[in-house]
Amino acid sequence: MSKLASNLQIDSARLWSTIHDTAKFGATPKGGVRRLTLGPEDKLVRDWFRAACEAAGCEVQIDALGNMFALRRGRDMSKPPVGLGSHLDTQPTGGKFDGVLGTLAALEVLRTLNDASIETELPLCVANWTNEEGSRFAPAMMGSAAYVGDFTVEDILSRKDAAGISVAEALDSIGYRGDSAVGTQKFTSFIELHIEQGPILEAESKAIGVVDSGQGVLWYDGKITGFESHAGSTPMQLRRDALATLSEIVLAVERIAIELGPNAVGTVGEAVIAAPSRNVIPGEIAFTIDTRSADAAIMDALDQRIRAAAAEIATRRKVEVALDLLWRKPPTRFDPKLVDAVEIAAKELGYSNRRITSGAGHDACNLNTKMPVAMIFVPCKDGVSHNELEDATQPDCSAGANVLLHTVLALAGVAK
Ligand code: GLV
Ligand code: MN
Ligand code: MN
Repeated sequence: MSKLASNLQIDSARLWSTIHDTAKFGATPKGGVRRLTLGPEDKLVRDWFRAACEAAGCEVQIDALGNMFALRRGRDMSKPPVGLGSHLDTQPTGGKFDGVLGTLAALEVLRTLNDASIETELPLCVANWTNEEGSRFAPAMMGSAAYVGDFTVEDILSRKDAAGISVAEALDSIGYRGDSAVGTQKFTSFIELHIEQGPILEAESKAIGVVDSGQGVLWYDGKITGFESHAGSTPMQLRRDALATLSEIVLAVERIAIELGPNAVGTVGEAVIAAPSRNVIPGEIAFTIDTRSADAAIMDALDQRIRAAAAEIATRRKVEVALDLLWRKPPTRFDPKLVDAVEIAAKELGYSNRRITSGAGHDACNLNTKMPVAMIFVPCKDGVSHNELEDATQPDCSAGANVLLHTVLALAGVAK
């Protein structure tokens, strides 16, 4: 590699201002971002992203699920590009960095190469995946899941949000149901930069997490059917209370995850009483369970024990509990050669680093079943994410972007 390429650094100030400038699309009063997938704010950031990629000389393709691909040509166009990127949608009370860092750092890599007039041997392709977060439409990481064939495109297009709007309708309403078929944009390999979203790097004062694995995920939709009746006149022993049932289920999920831990987590994140009223005993509740582990055997145990606990609680309380498993993502082991490439880039740049398992799910975990993939983590403040207070430092984000740049250069090669 030429001296120019091996000494290259991204423009830290430009990356930082890009992250903060685009945070205005969906900015919340508490300093976070609310940019639900395929909503009006997502359209604004997508329009901005497309224009920025085109200004950087890329051709931008959009597939039938709104996944965006910005291609920077390489010397050898006979091979698929090296992919880099993440997502631009956020949680309802999300931060400025989750997904955004990886997508905008990927753009910054292209801008840096342009400024230095460096042509890579292989082309590069920056991706913005649709609905990574999974909060408006389930499952999460929907665009990349359909890309690898875990779900059909028709199935994903028919998924509905809480207001009954389908993915197809939402794509059409913002003009992002693209022309290219899902899965046609191939990659030689894919690298995703992300904030850690957990406390380990910060606690150990490491600049870079070399991500070698990711937790598996189980997502359930649950429904409790009890019986509505008068809150004043129904004796306690005659009640079939859906909310009291849910309370036991929430504590059972917590207890089971703790007992199977430390490599297990479990969360009830949504619960909706069908017809809430303070003087009606709740008769029907919809709820969700999210449970995860990096160990496949522990995932099986979580599934079996949560189902058994829900069944026991239902029988004892004389209510019905239905648990529908809507998503099962096995644990991920990233490609050893790509993981090494990330580690080598971090070491050569002089950044402290350690191997790490991702607690969160990522598009990279989906892509890993079809191509060599690895991830780069940088610390975030107090390990907090999925929160408007999510924060990361400019030096840490820049270090991650530099590791991304040099991993990509190692994988794509520099044209002579
Ligand atoms: C995505 O943010 C997930 O890990 O659920
Ligand atoms: Mn993310
Ligand atoms: Mn997220």
